[in-house]
Amino acid sequence: MFKIEEDSQKLGQTAAVIIARQLIKKPNSVIALPTGVTPIPMYNAFVELMKYGIVPVEDAHFFNLDEYVGLTKNDPMSFAYYMDKHFLSKIGVIKHEIPLTNAKDPEKEAQNYEGKIKALGGFDLCFLGIGIDGHIGFNEPGTPFSSITHVAKLQPSTIKRNSKEFGKEVPNLAITVGIKTIMHSHHIVLMATGTEKSDILNKTLFGEVTTSVPASVLQLHPNLTILVDKECAKGITTTNARSFR
Ligand code: F6R
Repeated sequence: MFKIEEDSQKLGQTAAVIIARQLIKKPNSVIALPTGVTPIPMYNAFVELMKYGIVPVEDAHFFNLDEYVGLTKNDPMSFAYYMDKHFLSKIGVIKHEIPLTNAKDPEKEAQNYEGKIKALGGFDLCFLGIGIDGHIGFNEPGTPFSSITHVAKLQPSTIKRNSKEFGKEVPNLAITVGIKTIMHSHHIVLMATGTEKSDILNKTLFGEVTTSVPASVLQLHPNLTILVDKECAKGITTTNARSFR
């Protein structure tokens, strides 16, 4: 399914409704979540939906897609900090997993993380943002499609963009859920907002399936929902050329 929303706020509401429906259908769902600018309206909208007291979160398992390697615990640059600020502290989620940023052995931490996802049968629902280089999670161009959770080296463009908010450089290593793990999700929701994402969305959805554009693998997913705002959609030239169900 390809849906164009009026703006990033409306997109966030639609995404929050997708989480709510999933949890009402299956309260112990395993749900993968991204950080970044794009999903903030989704977290805000979900917090609002929770106020109606109808969406069960007690049995849900939330997993973050990625986390930096080499920060101290509670560093404001960490994704753990971000998740607490935007989501966890507001809804009181009990079951939440995120790779340790200060793990002694990051490779082992990545393996453990994959093990935790596998033990629960994989993701029922996986939300993704997309980097301007086509990364999903922190799977940068060139990452094998067969990758599972691993330690990844970030591209300079990703470091630059993610550092903007902090005035200092974010780490160049991260633990990320792999592409294969993402692709095994039952349902994937890809979110993109703003004109800066149009170009990569065109390549992702209508270009060649190639590891040079990691997100292009999503063309192979049987249950993909794409949510874009009008700004992003303006630059997508070939939306009618293919249909996504
Ligand atoms: C972050 C993540 C990344 C972001 C991507 C887009 O957890 O998985 O793939 O989704 O870098 O980031 P924003 O939304 O800030 O443009």
